[in-house]
Amino acid sequence: MKNVRSFQKMKMKKDKIVMMTAYDYPSGKLVQEAQADLILVGDSLGMVIQGEKNTLKVTLDEIVYHTRITRKGADESFIVADLPFMSYHLDLNSTKQNAARLITEADADAVKLEGGKESRIAAIKAIVDCEIPVVAHLGLTPQSINAFGGYIVQGKENKSYQQILEQAQNIEKAGAFMLVLECIPEMLGKEITERLSIPTIGIGAGRFTDGQVLVYHDILGMSDIKPKFVKQYNELNKSILQSLQNFVSDVKIKNFPQKKNSYKPFVE
Ligand code: KIV
Repeated sequence: MKNVRSFQKMKMKKDKIVMMTAYDYPSGKLVQEAQADLILVGDSLGMVIQGEKNTLKVTLDEIVYHTRITRKGADESFIVADLPFMSYHLDLNSTKQNAARLITEADADAVKLEGGKESRIAAIKAIVDCEIPVVAHLGLTPQSINAFGGYIVQGKENKSYQQILEQAQNIEKAGAFMLVLECIPEMLGKEITERLSIPTIGIGAGRFTDGQVLVYHDILGMSDIKPKFVKQYNELNKSILQSLQNFVSDVKIKNFPQKKNSYKPFVE
Protein backbone atom coordinates (compact mmCIF):
# COMPACT_ATOMS: atom_id res chain seq x y z
CA MET A 1 0.00 0.00 0.00
CA LYS A 2 1.29 3.46 -0.90
CA ASN A 3 1.78 6.17 1.71
CA VAL A 4 2.61 9.88 1.85
CA ARG A 5 6.29 9.13 1.24
CA SER A 6 5.51 7.07 -1.87
CA PHE A 7 3.85 10.08 -3.53
CA GLN A 8 6.79 12.31 -2.66
CA LYS A 9 9.18 9.78 -4.22
CA MET A 10 6.98 9.53 -7.32
CA LYS A 11 7.25 13.29 -7.80
CA MET A 12 11.03 13.17 -7.44
CA LYS A 13 11.26 10.33 -9.96
CA LYS A 14 8.78 12.07 -12.27
CA ASP A 15 6.43 9.06 -12.16
CA LYS A 16 2.91 10.28 -12.89
CA ILE A 17 0.46 9.82 -10.00
CA VAL A 18 -3.05 8.57 -10.78
CA MET A 19 -5.94 9.41 -8.48
CA MET A 20 -9.52 8.33 -9.19
CA THR A 21 -12.67 8.90 -7.22
CA ALA A 22 -14.69 6.01 -5.82
CA TYR A 23 -17.75 6.05 -3.59
CA ASP A 24 -18.65 2.50 -2.60
CA TYR A 25 -17.57 -1.16 -2.49
CA PRO A 26 -17.79 -1.94 -6.24
CA SER A 27 -16.15 1.29 -7.44
CA GLY A 28 -13.43 1.06 -4.76
CA LYS A 29 -12.71 -2.54 -5.76
CA LEU A 30 -12.42 -1.72 -9.47
CA VAL A 31 -10.33 1.42 -8.96
CA GLN A 32 -7.95 -0.59 -6.77
CA GLU A 33 -7.79 -3.39 -9.35
CA ALA A 34 -7.06 -0.79 -12.04
CA GLN A 35 -4.01 0.16 -9.94
CA ALA A 36 -4.78 3.79 -9.29
CA ASP A 37 -2.12 5.17 -6.95
CA LEU A 38 -4.73 6.61 -4.61
CA ILE A 39 -8.49 6.91 -4.26
CA LEU A 40 -10.49 10.02 -3.48
CA VAL A 41 -13.90 9.68 -1.86
CA GLY A 42 -14.89 13.10 -3.13
CA ASP A 43 -17.86 15.25 -2.27
CA SER A 44 -18.54 15.03 -6.02
CA LEU A 45 -20.73 12.17 -4.75
CA GLY A 46 -23.32 14.90 -4.18
CA MET A 47 -23.63 15.23 -7.94
CA VAL A 48 -22.85 11.77 -9.35
CA ILE A 49 -24.53 9.68 -6.62
CA GLN A 50 -27.12 11.95 -5.05
CA GLY A 51 -28.16 13.85 -8.19
CA GLU A 52 -27.66 17.30 -6.66
CA LYS A 53 -26.65 20.25 -8.87
CA ASN A 54 -23.55 20.94 -6.75
CA THR A 55 -21.55 19.50 -3.83
CA LEU A 56 -22.81 21.82 -1.10
CA LYS A 57 -25.41 19.57 0.55
CA VAL A 58 -23.07 16.64 1.21
CA THR A 59 -22.67 15.99 4.94
CA LEU A 60 -19.79 14.63 6.98
CA ASP A 61 -21.90 11.58 7.91
CA GLU A 62 -22.37 10.84 4.21
CA ILE A 63 -18.63 11.08 3.53
CA VAL A 64 -17.99 8.78 6.51
CA TYR A 65 -20.49 6.25 5.12
CA HIS A 66 -19.15 6.34 1.55
CA THR A 67 -15.53 6.16 2.69
CA ARG A 68 -16.28 3.10 4.85
CA ILE A 69 -17.95 1.23 2.03
CA THR A 70 -15.20 2.23 -0.40
CA ARG A 71 -12.62 0.86 2.04
CA LYS A 72 -14.45 -2.51 1.97
CA GLY A 73 -13.56 -2.83 -1.70
CA ALA A 74 -10.19 -1.11 -1.57
CA ASP A 75 -8.47 -2.54 1.47
CA GLU A 76 -4.98 -2.04 0.02
CA SER A 77 -5.41 1.49 -1.32
CA PHE A 78 -4.43 4.86 0.07
CA ILE A 79 -7.80 6.60 0.52
CA VAL A 80 -8.33 10.34 0.79
CA ALA A 81 -11.73 11.45 2.11
CA ASP A 82 -13.16 14.88 1.34
CA LEU A 83 -14.07 17.23 4.16
CA PRO A 84 -17.45 18.57 3.01
CA PHE A 85 -18.68 22.17 2.92
CA MET A 86 -18.73 23.84 6.37
CA SER A 87 -16.96 20.95 8.12
CA TYR A 88 -13.66 22.89 8.44
CA HIS A 89 -14.89 26.49 8.34
CA LEU A 90 -16.08 27.20 11.89
CA ASP A 91 -13.35 26.70 14.47
CA LEU A 92 -10.20 24.63 14.71
CA ASN A 93 -11.60 22.24 17.32
CA SER A 94 -14.53 21.14 15.18
CA THR A 95 -12.20 21.05 12.15
CA LYS A 96 -9.86 18.63 13.97
CA GLN A 97 -12.75 16.50 15.25
CA ASN A 98 -14.29 16.27 11.78
CA ALA A 99 -10.98 15.36 10.15
CA ALA A 100 -10.39 12.74 12.85
CA ARG A 101 -13.79 11.09 12.17
CA LEU A 102 -12.70 10.46 8.59
CA ILE A 103 -9.64 8.60 9.86
CA THR A 104 -11.08 6.72 12.86
CA GLU A 105 -14.68 6.01 11.77
CA ALA A 106 -14.34 6.01 8.00
CA ASP A 107 -10.88 4.41 7.76
CA ALA A 108 -9.42 7.02 5.40
CA ASP A 109 -5.67 7.61 5.27
CA ALA A 110 -5.85 11.35 4.64
CA VAL A 111 -8.37 14.16 4.26
CA LYS A 112 -8.85 16.85 1.60
CA LEU A 113 -10.08 20.39 1.99
CA GLU A 114 -10.58 23.27 -0.43
CA GLY A 115 -9.07 26.77 -0.57
CA GLY A 116 -5.88 28.56 0.37
CA LYS A 117 -6.82 31.74 2.23
CA GLU A 118 -5.56 32.38 5.77
CA SER A 119 -8.34 30.51 7.59
CA ARG A 120 -7.77 27.46 5.36
CA ILE A 121 -4.03 27.58 6.04
CA ALA A 122 -4.87 27.56 9.77
CA ALA A 123 -7.18 24.56 9.23
CA ILE A 124 -4.46 22.66 7.34
CA LYS A 125 -1.93 23.36 10.13
CA ALA A 126 -4.41 22.25 12.83
CA ILE A 127 -5.19 18.95 11.07
CA VAL A 128 -1.54 18.24 10.25
CA ASP A 129 -0.77 18.91 13.93
CA CYS A 130 -3.05 15.93 14.74
CA GLU A 131 -0.82 13.76 12.51
CA ILE A 132 -3.53 13.57 9.85
CA PRO A 133 -2.16 13.94 6.30
CA VAL A 134 -3.88 16.71 4.30
CA VAL A 135 -4.48 17.11 0.57
CA ALA A 136 -5.28 20.71 -0.35
CA HIS A 137 -7.32 21.84 -3.37
CA LEU A 138 -7.02 25.12 -5.32
CA GLY A 139 -8.43 26.69 -8.48
CA LEU A 140 -12.08 26.01 -9.27
CA THR A 141 -12.96 24.69 -5.82
CA PRO A 142 -16.57 23.45 -6.15
CA GLN A 143 -17.51 24.34 -2.57
CA SER A 144 -16.95 28.04 -3.50
CA ILE A 145 -19.31 27.85 -6.45
CA ASN A 146 -21.72 30.49 -5.16
CA ALA A 147 -18.87 32.85 -4.30
CA PHE A 148 -17.32 32.36 -7.77
CA GLY A 149 -20.68 32.85 -9.51
CA GLY A 150 -20.51 29.57 -11.43
CA TYR A 151 -18.13 26.91 -12.69
CA ILE A 152 -15.55 29.35 -14.06
CA VAL A 153 -11.87 28.59 -14.83
CA GLN A 154 -9.75 30.30 -12.14
CA GLY A 155 -6.37 32.05 -12.38
CA LYS A 156 -6.79 33.48 -15.88
CA GLU A 157 -6.08 37.08 -14.89
CA ASN A 158 -2.70 38.15 -13.55
CA LYS A 159 -4.08 38.98 -10.07
CA SER A 160 -5.83 35.63 -9.53
CA TYR A 161 -2.89 33.77 -11.16
CA GLN A 162 -0.52 35.29 -8.60
CA GLN A 163 -2.98 34.70 -5.76
CA ILE A 164 -3.30 30.97 -6.54
CA LEU A 165 0.48 30.67 -6.88
CA GLU A 166 0.99 32.32 -3.50
CA GLN A 167 -1.71 30.18 -1.86
CA ALA A 168 -0.08 27.03 -3.26
CA GLN A 169 3.21 28.00 -1.63
CA ASN A 170 1.46 28.73 1.69
CA ILE A 171 -0.27 25.35 1.51
CA GLU A 172 3.06 23.58 1.17
CA LYS A 173 4.49 25.56 4.11
CA ALA A 174 1.40 24.66 6.19
CA GLY A 175 2.28 20.98 5.81
CA ALA A 176 -0.13 19.58 3.18
CA PHE A 177 1.45 16.58 1.44
CA MET A 178 -0.37 16.96 -1.90
CA LEU A 179 -2.26 19.64 -3.83
CA VAL A 180 -5.18 19.16 -6.24
CA LEU A 181 -5.39 21.86 -8.92
CA GLU A 182 -8.75 22.18 -10.65
CA CYS A 183 -9.61 24.15 -13.79
CA ILE A 184 -6.70 26.57 -14.04
CA PRO A 185 -4.56 27.54 -17.06
CA GLU A 186 -1.97 24.93 -18.02
CA MET A 187 0.84 27.48 -17.47
CA LEU A 188 -0.22 28.01 -13.86
CA GLY A 189 -0.44 24.25 -13.25
CA LYS A 190 3.11 23.94 -14.61
CA GLU A 191 4.51 26.82 -12.57
CA ILE A 192 3.00 25.57 -9.30
CA THR A 193 4.25 22.03 -10.01
CA GLU A 194 7.78 23.31 -10.63
CA ARG A 195 7.85 25.57 -7.58
CA LEU A 196 6.40 23.10 -5.06
CA SER A 197 8.17 20.10 -3.62
CA ILE A 198 4.85 18.35 -2.80
CA PRO A 199 3.05 16.57 -5.67
CA THR A 200 0.32 18.34 -7.62
CA ILE A 201 -2.66 16.45 -9.04
CA GLY A 202 -4.49 18.15 -11.88
CA ILE A 203 -8.07 18.06 -13.08
CA GLY A 204 -8.37 20.51 -15.94
CA ALA A 205 -4.96 21.93 -14.99
CA GLY A 206 -3.08 20.86 -18.12
CA ARG A 207 -0.38 18.35 -18.93
CA PHE A 208 2.39 19.23 -16.52
CA THR A 209 1.06 18.46 -13.04
CA ASP A 210 2.62 15.51 -11.18
CA GLY A 211 -0.55 13.49 -11.52
CA GLN A 212 -4.13 13.50 -12.73
CA VAL A 213 -7.50 12.84 -11.12
CA LEU A 214 -10.85 12.19 -12.76
CA VAL A 215 -14.28 11.34 -11.40
CA TYR A 216 -15.22 7.64 -11.77
CA HIS A 217 -18.55 8.37 -13.45
CA ASP A 218 -16.94 10.79 -15.94
CA ILE A 219 -14.32 8.21 -16.99
CA LEU A 220 -17.03 5.60 -17.55
CA GLY A 221 -19.64 7.75 -19.27
CA MET A 222 -22.11 7.65 -16.40
CA SER A 223 -22.57 11.36 -15.72
CA ASP A 224 -24.99 13.94 -17.09
CA ILE A 225 -22.37 16.57 -17.87
CA LYS A 226 -19.07 16.32 -19.77
CA PRO A 227 -16.60 19.12 -19.01
CA LYS A 228 -13.81 19.88 -21.55
CA PHE A 229 -11.12 18.38 -19.28
CA VAL A 230 -12.75 14.93 -19.12
CA LYS A 231 -11.64 12.00 -21.24
CA GLN A 232 -14.48 9.49 -21.36
CA TYR A 233 -13.30 5.89 -21.78
CA ASN A 234 -16.68 4.19 -22.03
CA GLU A 235 -20.40 4.80 -22.49
CA LEU A 236 -21.63 2.70 -19.58
CA ASN A 237 -24.93 4.54 -19.14
CA LYS A 238 -25.87 3.57 -22.69
CA SER A 239 -25.08 -0.12 -22.22
CA ILE A 240 -26.71 -0.26 -18.75
CA LEU A 241 -29.88 1.27 -20.20
CA GLN A 242 -29.83 -1.23 -23.06
CA SER A 243 -29.59 -4.16 -20.61
CA LEU A 244 -32.39 -2.80 -18.41
CA GLN A 245 -34.62 -2.31 -21.47
CA ASN A 246 -33.86 -5.86 -22.62
CA PHE A 247 -35.01 -7.25 -19.24
CA VAL A 248 -38.23 -5.21 -19.33
CA SER A 249 -38.93 -6.42 -22.84
CA ASP A 250 -38.09 -10.09 -22.06
CA VAL A 251 -40.61 -10.16 -19.20
CA LYS A 252 -43.28 -8.40 -21.25
CA ILE A 253 -42.96 -10.80 -24.19
CA LYS A 254 -42.70 -13.83 -21.82
CA ASN A 255 -39.15 -14.61 -22.92
CA PHE A 256 -37.98 -14.57 -19.26
CA PRO A 257 -37.94 -16.64 -17.10
CA GLN A 258 -37.46 -19.83 -19.07
CA LYS A 259 -37.42 -23.43 -17.87
CA LYS A 260 -33.67 -23.23 -17.17
CA ASN A 261 -34.28 -20.33 -14.78
CA SER A 262 -36.97 -22.24 -12.86
CA TYR A 263 -36.82 -24.77 -9.98
CA LYS A 264 -37.99 -28.38 -10.02
CA PRO A 265 -40.43 -29.56 -7.32
CA PHE A 266 -38.97 -30.95 -4.06
CA VAL A 267 -38.19 -34.70 -4.26
CA GLU A 268 -37.16 -37.06 -1.39
O1 KIV B 1 -14.97 15.81 -5.03
C1 KIV B 1 -14.18 15.43 -5.91
O2 KIV B 1 -14.38 14.40 -6.56
C2 KIV B 1 -13.01 16.26 -6.17
C3 KIV B 1 -12.20 15.94 -7.38
C4 KIV B 1 -12.92 16.34 -8.59
C5 KIV B 1 -10.84 16.51 -7.32
O3 KIV B 1 -12.73 17.14 -5.43
